[in-house]
Amino acid sequence: MTLCIGLTGGIGCGKSTVAGLFAEHGAGIVDTDAIAHHLTQSGGDAIAAISAAFGKDYITVDGELDRAKMRGLIFSDAAAKQRLELILHPLILQQAKQQLRLLQTKHYIIIVVPLLAESPSFRQLVQRVLVVDCDENIQVARVIGRSQMEEAEVRGIIAQQTPRAERLQIADDVIHNDAGMDSLAEQVSVLHERYSARQNSN
Ligand SMILES: Nc1ncnc2c1ncn2[C@@H]1O[C@H](COP(=O)(O)OP(=O)(O)OP(=O)(O)O)[C@@H](O)[C@H]1O
Ligand SMILES: [Mg+2]
Repeated sequence: MTLCIGLTGGIGCGKSTVAGLFAEHGAGIVDTDAIAHHLTQSGGDAIAAISAAFGKDYITVDGELDRAKMRGLIFSDAAAKQRLELILHPLILQQAKQQLRLLQTKHYIIIVVPLLAESPSFRQLVQRVLVVDCDENIQVARVIGRSQMEEAEVRGIIAQQTPRAERLQIADDVIHNDAGMDSLAEQVSVLHERYSARQNSN
C-alpha cells in the first residue's frame, strides 16, 4: 500500500493551498470536499437520498443541492447536520477508497479530510495525520478575505469545529500557516522529502 497521509485543519487554515503545493511535488491528491461537491451536483449519487430525507425544497431547479439553504439549516439544527452526514459520509468514503486505489502508482497520497478528527473510518485509511494550523485571527481574516462571510459567522463555524488543541493532539506532522506562502512552500518541501523517503515503509 502507498503511504497515505490525512491532511486536516480548521476552516480556512490552508488545507486546499497545502494540497496544491504537494500536488506540484507530484503527490497523489484525494480531496473529500471535491467528492462531496460532486455527490451533491445535479445527477450526483447523493441527490435522491437528500431529496427523500429533507424534501424537494433542498434541491434547486437545476437538480443540485441548494447549498446555501442546507448550510442555513444545519448550522442551527444538529440533528439535520447528522442526517446529512449519514447520507454523505459513506458515499464520500466509498469514492475516496476508489480514488486511492487509482493512485497506487504515486510515491505517497495526501487525502484532504476536514473532519478527520471526528471520523474514525477516515482515520483508518491513513498512516499519518498532517494538521495545517494557524492563529485563529489569521484564520478568520483569510476566510473573510476569500468569501463574503461576516466575522461572527466565521467564528460561529470555528466554534462548531473540533477545537484547535484537540486537532493538534492527533497530528503526526504540523504545518504552521501563520506566515506567507514562501514559508508554507518551504514546510511542504521538507515534508515531501520525508514522505518520499518513507514510501512503502509503513
Ligand atoms: N500562507 C498563506 N498566505 C496567504 N494567504 C493564504 C496562505 N495560506 C492560505 N491562504 C489563503 O487563505 C484562504 C484559505 O486557504 P484555503 O482555501 O487553502 O483553506 P482551506 O483550509 O482549504 O479552507 P476550507 O476549510 O474552507 O476548505 C485562501 O484564500 C488562501 O489563498
Ligand atoms: Mg479547502
